[in-house]
Amino acid sequence: MKVTVVGAGAVGASCAEYIAMKDFASEVVLVDIKEGFAEGKAMDLMQTASLNGFDTKITGTTGDYSKTAGSKVAVITSGIPRKPGMTREELIGINAGIVKDVTANLVKHSPDVIIIVVSNPMDTMAYLVHKTSGLPKNKIIGMGGALDSARFKYRLAEALESPISDVDGMVIAAHSDTGMLPLMSKATRNGVPVTEFLSEEQQNYVAEETKVGGATLTKLLGTSAWYAPGAAVSVMVQAILCDHKKMIPCSLMLEGEYGQSDICLGVPAIIGANGVEKIVEISLTDAEKEKFTTAAKAVREVNGDLKF
Ligand code: NAI
Repeated sequence: MKVTVVGAGAVGASCAEYIAMKDFASEVVLVDIKEGFAEGKAMDLMQTASLNGFDTKITGTTGDYSKTAGSKVAVITSGIPRKPGMTREELIGINAGIVKDVTANLVKHSPDVIIIVVSNPMDTMAYLVHKTSGLPKNKIIGMGGALDSARFKYRLAEALESPISDVDGMVIAAHSDTGMLPLMSKATRNGVPVTEFLSEEQQNYVAEETKVGGATLTKLLGTSAWYAPGAAVSVMVQAILCDHKKMIPCSLMLEGEYGQSDICLGVPAIIGANGVEKIVEISLTDAEKEKFTTAAKAVREVNGDLKF
């Protein structure tokens, strides 16, 4: 099955690489607006195939969307990333125009496509795709929770001095520095709540470091991260292509779930061949409910800046 990745930059190329390395897709088409860039990235990645042992074909095109026809999944990473000190929300003006244009091109050539939105501010960009693509809501998935949960697990493992595979945890709500909600009450080490091992101070530290995980990296790298974002997207694409029916927190259009409607926010969902198979409603503590509502309010404000 064919996967299109729009934006052959840091995140797009990383995501294409992880998809190819896992060898579950027949073809990955990279699209970029910069002349020759996607073609170059595709060629470079193809020259790793014999070294890394994959058969996925990777091709690139400068904006010829006919090459993306028949894609099962398309990932939108096109747009500008943030620079140190910037919030994701500050990217809206430029990225909204790019995302809207790219979506129309994708749907024209692949009317049954499932779109994974990565460009920031992601919850608002996912909302924009819902409002402009004409696709059913199960086919539009924002990527944020998969990455933020991986960052949460990294920080949990660090605080617990445990291997990462021993810990589990999930981040829901908004993909923003203030709106992320790491669910400490549900996080576990080998099935035991982490609240039994970590002091309140340690829990707060883990939650705060998770929320600013992206900003910390942007400061260190001078631009936003790409390995973990690319890996997070590849897990979502794999869940769809291989019909894993895996629970992954994603930014989805809510229609009453978690007390919210007409907004895309991070919630746990079963991801499989149909895209979103089901939104899972988990119980939240009163404090978590309040934080979810506050995050929704902030995202709604950003959505208000969109022009359709
Ligand atoms: P980048 O600058 O390395 O790559 C973006 C690419 O998009 C560039 O190669 C550019 O030429 C291309 N592009 C721009 N306009 C285009 C168009 N109309 N059609 C096709 N290609 C176009 O940026 P990077 O680091 O890959 O980040 C991409 C986006 O993903 C940013 O908005 C960033 O904030 C976001 N991001 C989101 C994450 C998430 O968790 N949702 C995580 C990391 C990044």
